[in-house]
Amino acid sequence: MTLTFIGHGYVGLVTACILADFGNNVWVIGHTQEKIDRLKKGDPIIFEPGLTELLHKNLKANRIRFTLDYDQAIPQSQIVFIAVGTPSTNGGDADLSAVFKVAKRIAKHLGTEFTTISCKSTVPVGTNKKIESILQAEKGRNTSVAVASCPEFLREGSAIYDTLNPDRIVIGCDSKKAADLLLELHRPINGKRVVTDLASAELIKYTANAMLATKISFANLISFFCEKTGADVENVLDAVGLDKRIGRIFMDPGVGYGGSCLPKDVRALTRMGFNLNINTDFLENINDINISAQKYFIQKILNNAKSKKVTIWGLTFKPNTDDVREAPSLFIISALLKNKYKISVYDPVGISNVKQEFGDRIKYFEDPYGALQDSSALIILTEWNEFRQVDLGKIKKTMRHPLIIDGRNIYNPDLMKKLGFKYYSVGRKPIK
Ligand code: UDX
Repeated sequence: MTLTFIGHGYVGLVTACILADFGNNVWVIGHTQEKIDRLKKGDPIIFEPGLTELLHKNLKANRIRFTLDYDQAIPQSQIVFIAVGTPSTNGGDADLSAVFKVAKRIAKHLGTEFTTISCKSTVPVGTNKKIESILQAEKGRNTSVAVASCPEFLREGSAIYDTLNPDRIVIGCDSKKAADLLLELHRPINGKRVVTDLASAELIKYTANAMLATKISFANLISFFCEKTGADVENVLDAVGLDKRIGRIFMDPGVGYGGSCLPKDVRALTRMGFNLNINTDFLENINDINISAQKYFIQKILNNAKSKKVTIWGLTFKPNTDDVREAPSLFIISALLKNKYKISVYDPVGISNVKQEFGDRIKYFEDPYGALQDSSALIILTEWNEFRQVDLGKIKKTMRHPLIIDGRNIYNPDLMKKLGFKYYSVGRKPIK
């Protein structure tokens, strides 16, 4: 098939490369010449494990092409994927301006064959119907289109694996012809198929992300109970998770969830509920607990660091990505700067994105130990694997005061005690 992707972020580029790898002819449309030139040269712009190799392979085979020009790609495509961002507006709604703008442009360039417009962007219920109206109003007389909602469930950091091994493929669509085409396109990929209506598909995505956020906030709430009572959150959640009805997965307490999806999708669902006159206190509480987890952690730093010179390891919102959108690190660094802390930071791939936020207000290091010189606290915000088995003796020697404040519970408190560290983690007894 010939396909077009509009948008080349974590969803658009990864899915485009995988579908090209299956032998399809794939166009990717962007909106800045500079980025298109980089992509054409094999630079994926974002950091996602395995993506550079997949991009190179398919560029070489001429199965993936990048352009700014809709006319080059759309008329010959059987399926056009919309994969542009839907960030939060100031009020918390999903900003749909990019989605509607590209829908208009697609309509103007449709070919004479039937085209399926498949929306991968996360959009509130009713948006795909609006896309349909835009297409019908703006398209030429000799063209025919159908709209489908194909929400995406990939996680950054394991985007290629998730796309190839999904739990389910959701296709929301009123047109059998379009649904069949999408089913055929996904044939090489396993996973349950859920073919449904547009509204259900749109709501499935928000429900899934709100449920994931609920699990994390619940784990964080229980960690507050543990810290006040002397219980150990890992023991509590491990035991509770043995109940198959509950499970342990995605219940790791920490510094709160971040990223480009969970926070904005919980807010957008809350706004959707408000517009529908549904009580959304529950969703607001999920968001509030997430903020509390970050504030609670900041307080641990303010209460325990012996000087205002501290080090942060891990800046991205999770490991194996360079993405710092709504990363807890941004919130925590801002709070520490307000309190006049001097901050040295290290992250394997997230430095350049954090530099755009804080410039020279903090110090950046390419070596984790270098960042620890004279530091009174090592603060861990992302559980990168390379932090799990560091040289703790070297850390202790390099720091001014041997204090670790661990927002991801990656170290064993007993070992910390044995090595003479002060150690604060989440929902576990502190080692003083
Ligand atoms: C999420 C969904 O998982 C994915 O299905 C959807 O398509 C997009 O949004 P992503 O944002 O890439 O994916 O990251 P995810 O792995 O869900 O983690 C989100 C945040 O939650 C991270 O900040 C992570 O550190 C945090 N988290 C996750 C926890 O704090 N505890 C957990 O148990 C799991």
